[in-house]
Amino acid sequence: MCGIVGYTGKKNVTDILTGGLSSLEYRGYDSSGVAVIADGKTKVYKAEGKLQNLKDLLATKQEELKSANVGIGHIRWATHGIPNEINAHPHTSTCGKLAVVHNGIIENFKELREKLEAKGCVFKSETDTETVAHLVNLKYEETKDLKEAVRLASKELDGAYALCIIHEDVPNTIIATRRNAPLLIGVGEDENFAASDVPAIIEHTKKAIYLDDNQIAVLKPNSIELFDSNNNKISPKVELLPWEPIALSKMGYKHFMIKEIHEQPDVIRNFLSGKLHSANEPVKLDEVKLDKEKLKNLNRIQVVACGTSLHAAMVGKYVIEELCKIPVDVEASSEYIYRTTVTDEHTLVIGVSQSGETADTLTAVKQSKARGSHILIITNRPDSAMAREADSLIPVNAGIEVSVAATKSYVAQLMAFYALALHLAEIKDSADKDYIKTLKNELLLLPQKIELLLTKKEKIQKCARMYSSSKNFIFIARGMNYATALEGALKLKEISYINATGYPAGELKHGPIAMLDETLPVLSIMMNGKVYEKILSNAQEAKARNARMIALTDSLDEKLEDLFDYVLNVPHVNEIISPIMAIIPLQLLAYYIAEFLGKDVDQPRNLAKSVTVE
Ligand code: F6R
Repeated sequence: MCGIVGYTGKKNVTDILTGGLSSLEYRGYDSSGVAVIADGKTKVYKAEGKLQNLKDLLATKQEELKSANVGIGHIRWATHGIPNEINAHPHTSTCGKLAVVHNGIIENFKELREKLEAKGCVFKSETDTETVAHLVNLKYEETKDLKEAVRLASKELDGAYALCIIHEDVPNTIIATRRNAPLLIGVGEDENFAASDVPAIIEHTKKAIYLDDNQIAVLKPNSIELFDSNNNKISPKVELLPWEPIALSKMGYKHFMIKEIHEQPDVIRNFLSGKLHSANEPVKLDEVKLDKEKLKNLNRIQVVACGTSLHAAMVGKYVIEELCKIPVDVEASSEYIYRTTVTDEHTLVIGVSQSGETADTLTAVKQSKARGSHILIITNRPDSAMAREADSLIPVNAGIEVSVAATKSYVAQLMAFYALALHLAEIKDSADKDYIKTLKNELLLLPQKIELLLTKKEKIQKCARMYSSSKNFIFIARGMNYATALEGALKLKEISYINATGYPAGELKHGPIAMLDETLPVLSIMMNGKVYEKILSNAQEAKARNARMIALTDSLDEKLEDLFDYVLNVPHVNEIISPIMAIIPLQLLAYYIAEFLGKDVDQPRNLAKSVTVE
């Protein structure tokens, strides 16, 4: 959701800015823009729609951009004001000398705008960001010091922001600051960078400084100075970025999503390495920092998450309750934060987030932390804002996930829940030892079984073609695969825009059965185990209403061919592990349907990879 790149140095500024923005495209956006200082003047170029439109525009301006040596760029996901060229960033001060790009939301922008208009500032856009341009410029006119102007202005801003600012009177310089929105500084040789996320700079440098809230960085080609909000100079801590540029390549696949689906066996192996080597050894989860006594006496767990991460949490609830006998509540973060909740110092609160930046989950985690709960974060981004709130941190190490639709990060989050549940069960001695051993064995064998499944994807592809003209889908399941039904439906909705609903199979007869007819595909997730027979009879109810029947199963029962029009087989796994196995064909089904319909698979409309607004 929105992306920032800044560059000061001798290379072609617009190439670096647009290159950086390209690698942030996956986050979701609707317009883009850059501002540079060329021939001593601030120049701004913006375009609505795809980044290519901006690139095409800049290609026609190469002559006037030749002398540019500093610039800032942005891709915008509209919050205040429609997605058009005027509302696209960068925004400028009335004099046009100062330009700013911004991620986040300035909550008091209305009051600020009134004050600034009263002082003669002329606004062009409907955005909250433009207030920052005018406010900082007024402070600059008073102080003639751009860093000081940003520092004074930020004291008047409420809300979340990552900001990069240039001014034509201050050559070669970018001022960068942040509060509750990510921003990092890339450290180069005779050049420096600013970015809202690693992919934007990883091609150029692996050295970075993560800004803390309210810190201000002054970037010039040969220096980086860092200050706190009281103007004290701080020594920057340079870190080595764990990313490889190769992670951002499709490696021959048509889309990132299909590449990421294929990475899942390795994601599981990667997650297990160092944690589980053999079924005879205990799970090693040093990341959990609660001592054994506290873990033994834990009497409640609350999980907060959104979207796909919420579905991972729902599976986690089943697994932890089954193995550890600890009650687990799971709630959408956006609901949790606006009601009276009763989490306290006796509750373990788990925040689950691929990006670690989701605003609702971050707020939920902060609220729980303030009430004294131990905070455990499960995330793919150990460098994120959420990770910084953690008392215990489980990085899921899925590698960068570029496709907006989460796939491998979901499987990695599930792995984190299995590891946590097994770890707790071993400490509490709350589950049968042979059962635990079986589950560990199954987890260790899982990557090969998924690889086997991935070699047989043609059948799923064929199924996708057959059903791609359906306007609606129902996914039914029971038990821990109810979350799989929700996740399968979410994947299909997100990337194909087909209306899909996940339903607990037993609830079908309490309403949705009224919708069933010969046009509606009902996909039943029927993994062997406690509820297999139950779903089978729910599926029969659907068949009796002429629905188009699809089964997803690890059963080899040939009679299923009579009941179902299409049977998708997966290798058998223990029921408790089955949500990982069952989600793979559903990810593939959604992918192939969207691909067949010609949708923008990796960047579905209206969606953002990292949702940093509430
Ligand atoms: C679905 C998807 C979203 C995210 C949700 C939470 O494919 O990607 O539903 O799962 O926005 O994001 P994180 O996990 O980053 O907190």
